[in-house]
Amino acid sequence: MKITRREAIKLGLAGGGVLLSPLAFPGIARALLSPQIPRFQLPFQVPPVLPPVRSDQTTDYYEMTIKKDLWEILPGLKTEIWGYEGMFPGPIIRQRGGKRSEGGRQSVVRIINKLGEDAQGRPINSVTHLHGMASLPQYDGYAIDYVPPEYFKDYIYPNDRAATLWYHDHVQDLTSHNVYMGMAGMYIVEDKFELDLPLPKGNYDVPLIIQDARFAGDGKLIFDDNSERSLYGDVILVNGVPWPYMQVANRKYRFRILNASVSRNYQLALSQKAEGLTIGEKLIVIASDGGLLSEPVELTTPFQTLGIGVAERYDVIIDFSQYPENSQVFLRNIGFTGSLDNDTRTHTIMRFDVVRSEPDDSIIPDQLRPVESLANQPITRTRTFRFERSIGQWLINGRTWDPQRVDANPQLGDVEIWNLVNPGSGWVHPVHIHLVHSQILDRNGLQPRPYERGWKDVFMVGEFQTVRVISKFRTPEGNDIKGKFMMHCHNLVHEDHAMMTQFEVGQGGPDPVTTAPAQPISQMLPL
Ligand code: C2O
Ligand code: CU
Ligand code: CU
Repeated sequence: MKITRREAIKLGLAGGGVLLSPLAFPGIARALLSPQIPRFQLPFQVPPVLPPVRSDQTTDYYEMTIKKDLWEILPGLKTEIWGYEGMFPGPIIRQRGGKRSEGGRQSVVRIINKLGEDAQGRPINSVTHLHGMASLPQYDGYAIDYVPPEYFKDYIYPNDRAATLWYHDHVQDLTSHNVYMGMAGMYIVEDKFELDLPLPKGNYDVPLIIQDARFAGDGKLIFDDNSERSLYGDVILVNGVPWPYMQVANRKYRFRILNASVSRNYQLALSQKAEGLTIGEKLIVIASDGGLLSEPVELTTPFQTLGIGVAERYDVIIDFSQYPENSQVFLRNIGFTGSLDNDTRTHTIMRFDVVRSEPDDSIIPDQLRPVESLANQPITRTRTFRFERSIGQWLINGRTWDPQRVDANPQLGDVEIWNLVNPGSGWVHPVHIHLVHSQILDRNGLQPRPYERGWKDVFMVGEFQTVRVISKFRTPEGNDIKGKFMMHCHNLVHEDHAMMTQFEVGQGGPDPVTTAPAQPISQMLPL
C-alpha cells in the first residue's frame, strides 16, 4: 500500500523531506510486509503438555515461569517473545475436571514473573486470566491484580466444566501487547462424561491455536494497532508456526480451535484448493466456548462456514476418510465483515496432507451433552450495554474502564438478559463476559447460528447488531461465587483502550486485588 499525499498531510509528513522511521507512524507501518516466506513449508507442531509438579487427593499443582526468549518463528530469524515457560504459545494444560464425585479435580497454577523490564526500562507486570473458568475474583486475573517481576501468584481453579479454555495475560492497558508477544496458551478440561463418549482422543484430539502477526525484516514482532483501532498481522500462525502443513491419517480428528489473535476474526472452511472454495467439504462442530453442544452441527462448503471471533473456541471434527491418500486439504479463512483487511495471504490458515491410512474406531454420537436452555427460567432483569466508538474512544454505555466503578449488580442465582448492542459500522465487537457461561437468545431477533446454540462466553456483535444473551449468576454446578468480574470487548486493542466494564455478583464478595496478592519470589515455598 502506498501512502497518498492526503494521508501524508494528515500524518504531518508532506513537504518536510525528512526521512522518519516508519515505525513512528502506525499508518505507515501498516504498509510494511513481513518477510515473504512460502506457505505450507513448515511442519505442524503442538505445544507440549505441561505435567503437574505434584498431585494429591484433590488437586494438581502446576508451575509456569513467564519469561523472555528468542524463538525461531520465521525460518532463519530470531524473534523476541514473552511467554509462559518462554514458549510461543505457552504449554497446553490438560486437566481432569467435572463433578468431584466423578473424579473431578481442582488445580493450582503457580505463575512466576521473570519478565524483567521492557525496552523503556519499565517493569513488565503480568496478570493471568483463565478464560472460560468460573474462578473466584482473586484468581480471575483482574486487570490490576498485578504479578510484578520477581513476584509469583498461585491461581486456584475449580475445573467444574469440561471445555476448551485458554489462559492469557490481562494487564490493564497492555493486554494486546502482552498477548501479541506470546502470553497465551490452551487449557483443556475433560470430565468423565466426555471421556466416555467415542469421540477422537489422544493423538487425534489436537489443539489448533490461530494467531496473526507481523514481523520486521530482522524477525522482530511489529506491534502496530493502527492508532488504537485494531492489530492485523500478515502472517498466520497455528500453534506458533506460520501456515504449517500437518500430515494426517485418513480418519476422524478432533481439532480444538482457539482464536487467540489480537483483533482478527475468521470465517473458516475446508477446501481442496489453497485459494477459493471447493464444494461439499465438511466441518462438524461438536463444542463451543463452554463445552459440548447438544448435537453435532455439520457445516458444508460453499455456503456454510465457521465464524470464529477473537477468543472464541469451537471444537470441530474433520473426517479425512472422505479424501484419498496423498491428497491435500486446506483450512481456509474466507474473511469476515469488519476485518478491514484485504491481505490474501491470510486467507489460508494451514494444509492437511492425508498421508496414511489408519483404523478409526471413533464415532460422532448424534447426541453429545444436553444443553439445558436458560430461556425457560424466570428472568430477573434485562440490561443493555452499547459498545461504540465516539470522540476517538471505545466506550461501553458511554464510559471507559474504571476499576472503581461497578455497572451492574446481579444477585446470586439471578437470571438476566443482556442486550449487547453495536450501534455502528466499521467494526465488530467480540464481547466477553467473565465468570458466567451464557446462551445467545437471538441476534437482531433472529436465531443465532446453529453452532452458537451452546454454552458461550464470547459473543460476536456485528455491525448494527443487538445480541441478546442470557446468563445465570450461579454456576450449574451450584458454586456460589460473589464479587467483581470484568466484561469487555475481546478485540484486545479495544479492550486496552478501555472498552471494558465490570459487574458485581451479590454483595461482600472477595476483593479481586487485596484478597490473594502476589508474593515476592524470595518468599516462595515449593508447591
Ligand atoms: Cu479472554 Cu477478560 O478475557
Ligand atoms: Cu475470561
Ligand atoms: Cu471491540
